[in-house]
Parts: sequence; C-alpha cells; structure tokens
Amino acid sequence: MWLLTVFLGLLTVILATWLPGYIRRWRMPPGPFPWPIIGNIAILGGKTYLTFIDLAKKYGDVFSVKLGMVDVVVLNSLDAVKEAFVKKSAEFGGRPKTLTNEILTEGGKDIAFTDDSPTLKLQRKLFVSALRTYASGKSLQAITHESLKDIIADFTDMEGEPVDLEDYMYKVVYNIICAASFGVRYKMDDSDFQHLLQMSKDGLEILSGGLLADIFPSLAFLPTPAKSACHKMAANFMEYFKRQVDQHQRTFDPDNLRDITDHMIKAQKDAEEEGIQDVNSLTDTHLRQTISDVFGGGTNTTIHTLRWAVLFLAAHPEIQEKVAAELDSVVGRDRLPELSDREATPYTEATIHEVMRKGSVTPTSLPRATSVDTTLRGYHIPKGTWIIPNLWALHHDPAIWGDPHTFRPERFLDEDGRLISKPSALMPFSVGRRACPGEAVARADMFLLMAGLVQNFRFSIPEGEGPPDLTADKDAGGGFVCVPVPTKVVITCRK
Ligand code: HEM
Repeated sequence: MWLLTVFLGLLTVILATWLPGYIRRWRMPPGPFPWPIIGNIAILGGKTYLTFIDLAKKYGDVFSVKLGMVDVVVLNSLDAVKEAFVKKSAEFGGRPKTLTNEILTEGGKDIAFTDDSPTLKLQRKLFVSALRTYASGKSLQAITHESLKDIIADFTDMEGEPVDLEDYMYKVVYNIICAASFGVRYKMDDSDFQHLLQMSKDGLEILSGGLLADIFPSLAFLPTPAKSACHKMAANFMEYFKRQVDQHQRTFDPDNLRDITDHMIKAQKDAEEEGIQDVNSLTDTHLRQTISDVFGGGTNTTIHTLRWAVLFLAAHPEIQEKVAAELDSVVGRDRLPELSDREATPYTEATIHEVMRKGSVTPTSLPRATSVDTTLRGYHIPKGTWIIPNLWALHHDPAIWGDPHTFRPERFLDEDGRLISKPSALMPFSVGRRACPGEAVARADMFLLMAGLVQNFRFSIPEGEGPPDLTADKDAGGGFVCVPVPTKVVITCRK
C-alpha cells in the first residue's frame, strides 16, 4: 500500500511540474519531446550548433527545446534572426537571469549578461559613446602597433620552429585590451599577466559550461564545486578590476583622458551634469562591471578569431600570398599597416570577413530572453524564454553561400576586386538592440593584427603533416565557442 502511495505521490509531483509546462508549450514552436525534469538536456555537449542544424531539418528553422526547466527557442535561419532581433528588437532584447550571470555581474550590473532595463539602456549608451570617442583617436592604433612590435620580435626569434601560437595570441590581445582599458602593458613572463591569462582560460571553460542551477533554478542553494569555482573566478577578476578602476577614479583628469576607463568616467560625469534621468542608478560597481565586459567581450573572441586567421592562411598559402602582395603594394615594408590603409586593401578586408564567417567564434552568440509574451511566425513565445540564434548555421547556409565549407575571401569581392557591402547573413557580432558594441574596435584590431602579421611573416603547416583540422575543437568552448584545434605552424620571416 505504502509503495502505491509513494508512486502516486511521485506521479503527482512529476505531473504538477511537467504538465503546466507541457500545456504552455503547445502554442510554442515545435521541437523534440521534452522529458520530465531533464527536458532535452541530452542535446547539450558536443557541437551544439551542429545539433541545432540537425533539429532544424526535422522541426523547421524556428524550434523549441527544453533545457532542464528552461524553455529555449532556437533561430536557425537568417529570416528568423532578422524577424526576432531586428523587427521585434525590444521584445527579443533581454538576457536570461541565471545564477552564473548573477555571480559574474555582481547582481546584474554589467552590460552583456544583464536583462534589459532603463539603467542598462543608459549604461550601454554611455559605453558605446565612450568606446566611440576612444576609438576615434589615434590611441587604439598606437597601442596595437606597440603590442604588434612585441609579438613580431617574439615570432622572429621562433623562425623555422613548429610552434603553437595560442599563448602569444593571448599576450598580444591582452596587452591591447589592458592598455586600451587601463593603460597597462605586460611582459609575457610577468606574474600579473600569467595570472590574468590563467583566469581568462578558466573563465572560458566555466562560462561555456555554465552552472546546473542556470537550468534548474531551484538548485541554486546547493554548494556545488562548480558554483564555488564561479564565485572564486568572479572574485579574482573583480579584485583586479577594482584595483584598476579605483586608481583611475583617484587620478581622473577630464583634460587628459588616458583610456576607455577614463572615457567611461567622463561619459558618466557628463550625463550627471546634463541631469540625465537614471544616471544616479549607475554605481561604481556598474563602472567596474562595464570595464570587465571589455575583457569578457573583447579578449577570447579576438584571440580565437586571430588564431583562426593564422590557421586558415597557413592552410591556404595562395590566399596568404594574395593578402601579402596587396599589403606590399599598398603599405610596403617600411611601416606597419594603419587603419587608413583599410580602404585600399579590399582583399585583406574580405579575408577578415571570411575568417569571421568560417571561424564563427561565437556560433550561438549570447542567449537572449524575451522581455514580454510575444509571437514569432505565429507561434507563442512566453516572456522569459531563452532565445538562441544559431549564427554558425547562417554562416554555413549553402542556400546563402553556395560553397560554405570552402575558405574563399573572393565571395566578398565584386568582379573588379572591390569589397561588396557586407551580406546581411554575415553577422559575427549579431544584430539588433543587443548586438556587440565592440564591433568597430574588434574589426580595427583584427585588421591591424592580421595585416601586421602577414606583412612580416609567412605561416605554413609543418612539412610532412597532413592538412590541418579546420573544424572547431570539440573539447574546448563547451560547444558554445568555436576554438581552433591546437595546431603548430611554422613561421618564416618575409625578407
Ligand atoms: C572578434 C571579436 C568579437 C566578436 C566576434 C564579438 C561577438 C559578440 C556577440 C555575438 C555578442 C552578442 C550580441 C547579441 O546578443 O546580439 C557580443 C556582445 C557584446 N560584446 Fe562583443 N564581440 C567581439 C569583440 C568585442 C569587443 C572588442 C568588445 C569591447 C570593447 C565587446 C563587447 C561586447 C559587449 C559589452 C557585449 C554585450 C552587449 C549587450 O548585451 O548589449 N565585444 N559580442
């Protein structure tokens, strides 16, 4: 008898938790059957963006999955992404509230992982303006050139050896981001730099995995090892950022804006003077968190895009030669490439587009969330549903690109070799209300770095080794970041 009571009790609990969700999902986009409690959690792991493409073949380009207790809608085509993120940008402009986000953002005080609100809107507006004024000066180029000179010296010493360049890419990009944010530069063996490097690599793994409580919110109270690792990582990063931001606030001089932090302090002070509503809701924690977004948003993305660039060029020597020849004719060898060279170097720009398309470092972007009950393609999408755009699918859609798996910069050039307008299906920085505010900075840096490296070196695959694996590493990035498989290349100085 007691067995029957337990069984009926369990059945009631399962039905009570599962049935309302099941009914709610009736009007939502179709998708695979969600098992009670775990939902479709089994689809995670591996290359999620490929799993999504398979699911889209069965359920259509807008489909639903359930991850634990969370409803997720996946957008698997250009039309679907545009309809949600451009046409209905406000409705699809939120971010999921998860335990990981709460911990990393000190309770929702950054830009990237925080849900939409008037405070966030203002914080993002000030950040975009600070970044724009900073990037329009000469500092970004000067800083990038400094870091580039360092790496050119390192690479010259390694000539002829097969080397994995990952740590050097971390160094060059971190030095740019640290200098742009705080005016700090590091040597490779600096203990502060090594600490930052390790934190960043750990951070990528922790972030890619997320916490179980993100999809089972009722487990948030559990003291799991992953949760303490996340707390520890957040505390380490914030201690570092607090030190830098405090020092900037003490020494701030409006007539001598040194870096992005100064520009952000100035933007905040200007807003105060203009009496802009909501500015009082922006605290020092918001400032520190905004600067932490420059790191979170700008480092791993740029590092891995640069790694993809070197790998694709090493695997396609004929394309590398064309980029080098264009740079020789426009820039020559006596100075480093400058931002003003971009217009005259369409092949190099097209190659960067192609690296971003084929590499797709952020294959599923950052998840959005709906801020109200809304609809898409006639389906009901309740408030708080997570929305995942499959950018990798857009970047590899044969109907758009014809030969998506071929690395071919020419697809971005017209018959006279001029750069065509950027196709709307190329969206490494996503689109709409929450699209990446760092796009202009990232593109400028990618140009200076890739062009500077190709001007000075030839990268090749070590002799005797077969063609490199040009698909993303299945063991890194948790299926949500496309990281190249560690590959050695040989560096030869271009005399
Ligand atoms: C190759 C380099 C980069 C790539 C591929 C990239 C890509 C992305 C993507 C896909 C998003 C999500 C947008 C969305 O939800 O619609 C994003 C957001 C963001 N990125 Fe980037 N990013 C890069 C560089 C940068 C840089 C250099 C910065 C800062 C200087 C930056 C700061 C941010 C911030 C703050 C957000 C959050 C925006 C928001 O939630 O409103 N990113 N990025």
